[in-house]
Amino acid sequence: MNWYGKRTLVTTSLRAGTDLLDLADRISAETGVPRVPRDNRSLKALLGHYEADGLVVVEAERVFFTDGSVEFFFHPGLAVLRIVEIRKGKNDQMIAAMDLKPGQRVLDCTLGLGNDALVASYVTGENGQVLGLESSPIVAALVRHGMRTYNRSSRAVRDSMRRIEIKCADHRVILASLPPDSYDVVYLDPMFSCPLKKSSGINSLRPLADHRPLTSEVTALALRVARKRVVVKDIRWGNRLRDLGFSHLTGGRKSPIAFGILLKE
Ligand SMILES: C[S@@+](CC[C@H](N)C(=O)[O-])C[C@H]1O[C@@H](n2cnc3c(N)ncnc32)[C@H](O)[C@@H]1O
Repeated sequence: MNWYGKRTLVTTSLRAGTDLLDLADRISAETGVPRVPRDNRSLKALLGHYEADGLVVVEAERVFFTDGSVEFFFHPGLAVLRIVEIRKGKNDQMIAAMDLKPGQRVLDCTLGLGNDALVASYVTGENGQVLGLESSPIVAALVRHGMRTYNRSSRAVRDSMRRIEIKCADHRVILASLPPDSYDVVYLDPMFSCPLKKSSGINSLRPLADHRPLTSEVTALALRVARKRVVVKDIRWGNRLRDLGFSHLTGGRKSPIAFGILLKE
């Protein structure tokens, strides 16, 4: 199931001042989702009154989406821990699969919560560049806002977040339009058809996410745009990477995750 075709509205917390109303209007304009006044009503009452399937709620502390059961909001999740480990000199499976170095350019075609993009941005540093593409307008808007404003982390993590550029777009369209060799690494982490139960961040993203499967046409477009390599994340026991022609797989032997690599040369 995905969110396309569902009725979503933007609203604010109960006592919203002009700052929150302005932010709600900005998010409404970015997503194309209309804003409705909160008028002292509960979220349940709003959902019922407008016969809506979901609400984007703009509060001072956070901006979140809810459909009445799950809540989706930006948080850096395991990225912070991964950055701590990288700082200690430990290996990160994704960074190793990307062979990523400071100053390089990464195109993250499936931004999601932006956790992988954040780790990539930390490694590429201030002379590098990470562009994240996300086709779900609500996910793109909430993660963009979160990346700009989240401040419960170290300076290095915050700077890495702020450097990430986020574009709400279908990666098929962008990949087809970019010149060859424009990014050192093109990264794809599509929704797994069989979800990992442990990943609560991704589970809250599921109702909003684009679930279209990765095709060999997309990986061919990605390889054209990559200067060095294309990296695709998938479940280790799935067949998708082999079906897509990835012969080179990496990842921890005990990890449920594998990374497929297509080298440019
Ligand atoms: C598994 S999540 C990515 C998680 C991400 N790597 C992270 O660290 O948070 C996949 C994301 O890719 C998005 N997506 C899927 N197909 C897409 C497409 N064609 N263009 C852009 N984004 C897409 C989904 O909406 C979803 O948010």
